[in-house]
Amino acid sequence: MNVFELLKQDHERVRRLFSELAKTQGRQKQARQDLFHQLKRELLAHSHAEERVFYPKLVDQPPAHDIIEDGINEHHQVEKLLHRIEGMPVETEEWMSAVTDLDQMFEHHTREEEARVFPKARQLLRDDQFEPIGTQVEQVENEERRRTPY
Ligand SMILES: [Fe+2]
Repeated sequence: MNVFELLKQDHERVRRLFSELAKTQGRQKQARQDLFHQLKRELLAHSHAEERVFYPKLVDQPPAHDIIEDGINEHHQVEKLLHRIEGMPVETEEWMSAVTDLDQMFEHHTREEEARVFPKARQLLRDDQFEPIGTQVEQVENEERRRTPY
């Protein structure tokens, strides 16, 4: 699949999980845990695949350097908060408010990516690279998903 289509689908998948999570109540502990686990798996698969496959294709291109650095920093912030949430009791308001923060952080990141990084990358890469890079991203994502089992 075209790498840009694929990465946008990832963003949508994560957005859906956040909105499912927002609908849960504190007493639905199991539902929260299951959704959070899916969220974690999808977020990590997406970030790691971008870092291992997508960003390296752009990193030698000076005009893309800064935006990639921003992207990586944002991934790290997301991961840090993700791990902090794992240590919180799932039924609490504190937990939901941290999940909401994570949602906002991710939303900011995806908007930046869709508005700035993808258009820049479309210019810097050749059209015939879009599909093969998409295939590589997908492979790494699947490997990463297998590393975060239930
Ligand atoms: Fe990203």
